[in-house]
Amino acid sequence: MSNNSAKSLVSEKRKYKVLNTQHAKGIAENYLESIGFKAIAISFGLPEIDDRYHVWRVPVLKNNGRIGEVVIDAYSANIDISKSTDKEILETAQPIFSGKKTEKKDITISNLNNMVIEGNSVETLNKLPEESINLIFTSPPYYNAKPEYSEYSTYDEYLELMRKIIKGSHRVLSEGRFFVINISPVLIRRASRSEASKRIAVPFDLHRIFVEEGFDFIDDIHWVKPEGAGWSLGRGRRFAADRNPLQYKPVPVTEYILVYRKKTDRLIDWNIRKHPDQQAVADSKVEDGYETTNLWRINPSRSKDHPATFPIELAEKVIRYYSFKNDVVLDPFGGSGTTGIGALNLGRRFVMCELENKYVQVMKKRFSSFDLFTPISFLKLKDIDIK
Ligand SMILES: C[S@@+](CC[C@H](N)C(=O)[O-])C[C@H]1O[C@@H](n2cnc3c(N)ncnc32)[C@H](O)[C@@H]1O
Repeated sequence: MSNNSAKSLVSEKRKYKVLNTQHAKGIAENYLESIGFKAIAISFGLPEIDDRYHVWRVPVLKNNGRIGEVVIDAYSANIDISKSTDKEILETAQPIFSGKKTEKKDITISNLNNMVIEGNSVETLNKLPEESINLIFTSPPYYNAKPEYSEYSTYDEYLELMRKIIKGSHRVLSEGRFFVINISPVLIRRASRSEASKRIAVPFDLHRIFVEEGFDFIDDIHWVKPEGAGWSLGRGRRFAADRNPLQYKPVPVTEYILVYRKKTDRLIDWNIRKHPDQQAVADSKVEDGYETTNLWRINPSRSKDHPATFPIELAEKVIRYYSFKNDVVLDPFGGSGTTGIGALNLGRRFVMCELENKYVQVMKKRFSSFDLFTPISFLKLKDIDIK
C-alpha cells in the first residue's frame, strides 16, 4: 500500500471499522494512555494494514526509533493485546533505528541509443557506462542442453560465465531496477542405455549467484506452455508405458521467469516518484488485462533463423511490467533480437549483445522495418567507445 488514499480505499472496500492511518493512530494513543504507559518522546510511525490478519499495525517510536507496535483489529477497532507489544517491554525497550539514511540522489535518463553489439557480452558489459541500463531481460545459452550449445567443458565453467554476466549487469543497471531472466532446468541426455539421464537445476544455482552479486529476489513467474509441448522430448514416455512407481517423470511444460532487483534501500516508489520524466511514467501505466498471477500461459515460439527464441509476447509482458517508456532495455544474449523488437514496439530503447555474426545478421533483418523511424547502430565490440 503506497499512500493514504489507497489505504482508505482498501479499508472501505473491506468494510473495516478502522478506515485510515489517523484513525489507527488515535486508537493506539488512547490504548497506551489507558494502560498507563507514560514515556518521554513517544510518537507513532506510519500505521499499515496487514492483509493476512486484517489488522492495523501502528509502530510505537521513542526518539524516532522503533520500540514496538500496537495492533488493532481492523473490523472491530479493538486492540489485539496478544499481538501488541507488552507495556513492560515498551517501558524498557531501546529504540531500534532503521539504519543509515540513504543519501539523496537524482535519477538521470540514460543517453544510450538503440544498438546491437557483436562480441562476447562479458567484455561488452565492461564497455557500457555504469547505471546506463534500466531493465535487463534475457534467456542465456543452455548448458549442453542441445548439441549445438555444447560449448562449456564443465558446468562450473558455465556458471562462471553466468557470474561474470550477472556481475557486469549489476554495474550497468540503474539503482533499484530489474534483471529478469528466462531459465529452466536442463536435461543432459544419457550417453548409453546403461546410464541415466541427468537433470541440472540451473535456476537454483543462478539464484545463489544473483544474491551473491547484489540482487534481491523479487518473483518466480512460471511460463506455462500448452500441454503436449514437451512430449516430443521423450520425458515421461517410459512411465506412460510401464507405470512403475519411481519411474514417474512429469513432462516439463514450464520455464521460469525469475525477477531480481538491484539491491537498494530505496523503495520501488522512489524509482517512480523521482523519475525525471513524469510524462513517460504516466504514459507507461499498464492497462487492464495484465497478468494478475505468476502463471503466464504463452505459446512457445519457433524460428527458422535461431534454435532457441522466446516469444515476443513474453518479451513484451516483461518490458511492459518492468520498465517505463524511453527506458533502455538490455539483452546480453540477444539471439534473434526478440527483446529488441519488444522494446521498439513499446517505445523503449535497446542494447542487444550477441556473440555470433549469423544472429546479428538475423537481428539486422528483423529490425530493418523499424529503421525508417528509429536509428539503430550495429557495432563490433572492438569499435565501441561509449562514454
Ligand atoms: C537462448 S539464445 C537467446 C535467444 C533470444 N532470446 C531470442 O529470442 O532470439 C542465447 C544467445 O546467446 C548467444 N551467446 C552465447 N554466449 C554468449 C556470450 N558470451 N556473449 C554474447 N552472446 C552469447 C548465443 O549465440 C545465442 O544466440
